[in-house]
Amino acid sequence: MYQKFNRRLDGQTALVTGSSSGIGSAVALALAKEGANVIVNYSRDEEGANKIVASINNDNEAGSAIALRADVSKEDQVQEMFRQSIAHFGTIDILVNNAGLQNDAAIQDMTLAEWQLVIDINLTGQFLCSREAVREFLKRGPRPEVSVATGKIICMSSVHEVIPWGGHINYAASKGGVMMLMKSMAQELGPKKIRINSIAPGAIKTPINKEAWDTPEAEKELLKLIPYNRVGETSDIGSIAAWLASDESDYIHGTTIFVDGGMTLYPGFYGNG
Ligand code: BGC
Repeated sequence: MYQKFNRRLDGQTALVTGSSSGIGSAVALALAKEGANVIVNYSRDEEGANKIVASINNDNEAGSAIALRADVSKEDQVQEMFRQSIAHFGTIDILVNNAGLQNDAAIQDMTLAEWQLVIDINLTGQFLCSREAVREFLKRGPRPEVSVATGKIICMSSVHEVIPWGGHINYAASKGGVMMLMKSMAQELGPKKIRINSIAPGAIKTPINKEAWDTPEAEKELLKLIPYNRVGETSDIGSIAAWLASDESDYIHGTTIFVDGGMTLYPGFYGNG
């Protein structure tokens, strides 16, 4: 995938939750390529996180990286992760709330634990990390030498913040929640020059949706939902995250950027309805 790097994040530090694999790892790599120092957060996949950290640290042109373990749904672990990140790099300029999971079931079979896990990681995790980031941004104030904004938060949402998703009600509810969390925080924190937006990926090739694209038949079915006729790559999200974290997008605030090949265009209506 074509990617252009312009060192737009030199001297800044970014914390990317859930960046040991999938979309998060591509975001971590893209921000580092722009010159940012990166905290690669993971909850279980230490090996994956260490690989991303090594590939950043082996790249002379990239910022530097460390891996930190924390379950984003646990207040004490999130606070400790921020404490260590700030102790290591001095401050945090960019938070990417990426950690998320699916735990699918028909509603009649869904246990409270299955519901709660998804809400805890996908929604409460974004609240807990955003709160710590905002506390740091407010405490340290502006850093005009690196960015116009005092701090930036990118929430990883999904097309399912607007597309209802039967069989995945916990996931869709969490992403609908992320939309209002992001917008309400943006309204509250804009006057403090804290810039907050979401990225809503469509179908991106990652382990979370492997069965939807890893055979030709599955991919053909999936493409019916994507007018642009290709399944997304994680680098499609990395490049948008780098731009959205940079001053090039300084006037974008409180918005969701859909990166979905047109999935939200209701392609099933083409010629029907
Ligand atoms: C989900 C994927 C799904 C995509 C499009 C994402 O948010 O995590 O499993 O393929 O939305 O439906």
